[in-house]
Amino acid sequence: MEFPTFPPDFLWGVSTSAFQIEGATKEGGRGPSIWDTFTATEGKVARGENADVAADHYHRYPEDIALMAELGVDAYRLSIAWPRIQPTGSGRPNPAGLSFYDKLIDAVCEAGIAPVVTLYHWDSPQVIEDDGGWLSRGTADRFAEYAAILGARFADRVKLWIPLNEPMVMSIYGYAIGEYAPGKTLLLDAIPTAHHQALAHGKAVQALRAAGATGVGTANNHSPVWPAADTPADRAAGAWLDALINRLYADPVLLGSYPEELHPYLPEGFADDLPAIAQPLDFYGVNYYEPQGVAAPGEGNPLPFELRPIEGYPMTTNDSPIVPHGLRELLVSFHERYRDRLPPVHITENGCSFADEVDADGTVRDPERVDFLAGHLGAVREAMDAGVDVRGYFVWSLLDNFEWSKGYAPRFGLVHVDYETQRRTPKDSFHWYRKLVRHE
Ligand code: FCB
Repeated sequence: MEFPTFPPDFLWGVSTSAFQIEGATKEGGRGPSIWDTFTATEGKVARGENADVAADHYHRYPEDIALMAELGVDAYRLSIAWPRIQPTGSGRPNPAGLSFYDKLIDAVCEAGIAPVVTLYHWDSPQVIEDDGGWLSRGTADRFAEYAAILGARFADRVKLWIPLNEPMVMSIYGYAIGEYAPGKTLLLDAIPTAHHQALAHGKAVQALRAAGATGVGTANNHSPVWPAADTPADRAAGAWLDALINRLYADPVLLGSYPEELHPYLPEGFADDLPAIAQPLDFYGVNYYEPQGVAAPGEGNPLPFELRPIEGYPMTTNDSPIVPHGLRELLVSFHERYRDRLPPVHITENGCSFADEVDADGTVRDPERVDFLAGHLGAVREAMDAGVDVRGYFVWSLLDNFEWSKGYAPRFGLVHVDYETQRRTPKDSFHWYRKLVRHE
């Protein structure tokens, strides 16, 4: 296949997150997180699965880094588990936690790979949640303390920093509909959690910079919103949903404002925090999976919109429609909306899950993933040709891992993990991506 070319300094990477791969949840002085509590609660995770072992990356990271070295990526996006660093959510850091990430980050650097570090990929210390979690403004201050600890320790080695991963998913899945930890079902009353996370982001950016960090950005999950019909009612529902899932997270950070339709749901005095939130950023991370369909609400629906599935596209096994041009549309619309307020963009997550299996000959054939990645990279290239400044692309994910409330069934990795033996097998897509990033 003829493949579009990317600039020589384009950053090729892979992404993971701590809770989804590390395991060892009770080792090294780690405190319990909201996800440990959630997975231990009956009925929350498919088949009752938990991440106590996951991909055992805590013990097997040298092997995983060797795989990345073979893959030839420039950068590795990992997350640090807050409950390993501050098991009780505040105060002096746990030396064993810091030393684990010291070893991990050093090993990544030694392999010639640049570490990209997410401070928070949803695994809040349980104590933080017990004190109100993201419903409490005080959590932003505790997060800033945590960020200062990480900045002081790792700023010398980390290339790019991401304070919070996808606050939208935390607000909606975690606090509005309860599909993810901490499992609250507050619907629109969850919106204050978006503000407190935005404030945590702003304070963390300041704390990281004060500690000497450079390359500070963010990573938000964005979906173009597609009204079911081209009618005023569906378009209005679409604009509202776009405010709720996209602009609520991008506007305060990039423009220093919130979408007007959401003002009534934000905590009192929110405007005073906007200058602290709108810190200048070195990059903006986009996590893209799929567009979101929407229609006007039916009678009796308390929400101003109704979600609709996107039809007519191939699907992943995680029920995601595969729509590469949605990524081009998203990037171009960001470029038009935010203009010179939008810093250079990295695609900090993009990927897909299939029911990959190891064949008798030891290979994993995943042609759908190769098509998915090629299609989405083509869309990135088109967006760049249309003027969007995209500097890097990170596949979600290096390894098959614990996919939150869906457990281990969705396999997102370039590398297959046999959870019985912890054996790693690079899939065909791994070899494809390897050729691409090594320019072979
Ligand atoms: C994203 C998450 C990531 C993973 C992928 C499939 O929303 O950031 O942890 O679950 O989806």
